[in-house]
Amino acid sequence: MDVVEGRVFYQGRLQKACVGYEDGLIVSVKKALEGEEHYDFGDRLILPGAVDPHVHFREPGLTNKEDFLSGSLSALFGGVTCVLEMPNTVPPVVDAESLREKRERILGRSWVDYGLFACLSPGKDIEGLSNCHAFKIFMGSSTQSVLMREETDLAEALVSAGSTDKVVSVHAEEDDMLLQKDERFLRDHEECRPRGAELRAIERLLTYQDKARLNVCHVSCPESLDLLKGSRTTFEVTPHHMLLDSSMDLGAWGKVNPPLRRRGDREALFTAFCKGEVPMLATDHAPHAPEEKERGFGEAPSGLPGVETGFSMMLALVKRGHMSLDTLLKAASMTPAKTFGLNKGEIAEGRDADFVVIDPRDIRKISARELHSKCGWTPFEGKEAIFPQAVFLRGRMMLRDGTIMNERCGREVSHV
Ligand code: DOR
Repeated sequence: MDVVEGRVFYQGRLQKACVGYEDGLIVSVKKALEGEEHYDFGDRLILPGAVDPHVHFREPGLTNKEDFLSGSLSALFGGVTCVLEMPNTVPPVVDAESLREKRERILGRSWVDYGLFACLSPGKDIEGLSNCHAFKIFMGSSTQSVLMREETDLAEALVSAGSTDKVVSVHAEEDDMLLQKDERFLRDHEECRPRGAELRAIERLLTYQDKARLNVCHVSCPESLDLLKGSRTTFEVTPHHMLLDSSMDLGAWGKVNPPLRRRGDREALFTAFCKGEVPMLATDHAPHAPEEKERGFGEAPSGLPGVETGFSMMLALVKRGHMSLDTLLKAASMTPAKTFGLNKGEIAEGRDADFVVIDPRDIRKISARELHSKCGWTPFEGKEAIFPQAVFLRGRMMLRDGTIMNERCGREVSHV
């Protein structure tokens, strides 16, 4: 057994403790423990690694933007020890063959653990997709999306998904309500993708909630929270919808679907998050190359990177007193792990030994130059973040003080 010692987040609070782990699993949490290796982190915080249920690492086919190596390295540096990765690649992951090809291609190339989404598409059988981790549906068009618009297709897909135990994550924007017009500013993009489209899509989805395990991705306005409140459907909010808005001077770098909305919307989402009303934090890390974003607003693709900055910015907001550490860790680690059936997300006996060590005094300003995504830019330049000083993946110290310490060992997760 090896041991990490410090101020451990255990049973809902920080306590001075030792965590013993063996063969990648936590075996004991006690005031004092003796291990072969003993890492004493003093008064630094030992937290569960974050689980990001929504990232796009662009393999195969879009590797000018990102690939599994660079995306997962970026996750590791951001304290994210597990990601669930999206299927809107080229080709998209929609059947047994595309899933197998992707799986083979990324094998051995991830710095963190990962699960793979497969896209449900009209008329396609889900049979071949039995070993994806979860399903994705795009109700509204977005980057390389495989659309599902018709009621009969949606109903059929959700009923078959419901015959499995897998979660269906949905990009909820009603495609018929999206407008095509000249876009030059973030406000235009927001007008073209009105909140009504999100609300309508969520209303439609909620009629299926006893059929399948539904999860609504990247909720962008407080009215959607009202619709989802009290339902059994889980949902995600992104850091960008809580920290950025369409009045900011971001140009195409802030173009994303669903769009950044008004300042009041962003503040309402952030307030709900701080109150613990948002089940999951998800970054929707969706990198595009700078030259693609520089094409001019109308031509630029939607999406922005965030897997390295999401958890770390929220940790700085905990330090600044906006929310409790408990609230953040529930949304960033515990609930995503629980929702998607992962043996992760908390420091407890039997869980994977995925730890992030932070020093709350070590607040830094985000700089794109220091991040690890291939895309090389961030919309969060200059914002405060607390990056991990050490990261452990299933008991292996992967990162310490900015240096990689171990061989790459990320592996595909399975349901527990
Ligand atoms: O802005 C977005 N970008 N929204 C999505 O749903 C997809 C994503 C991407 O893949 O670039």
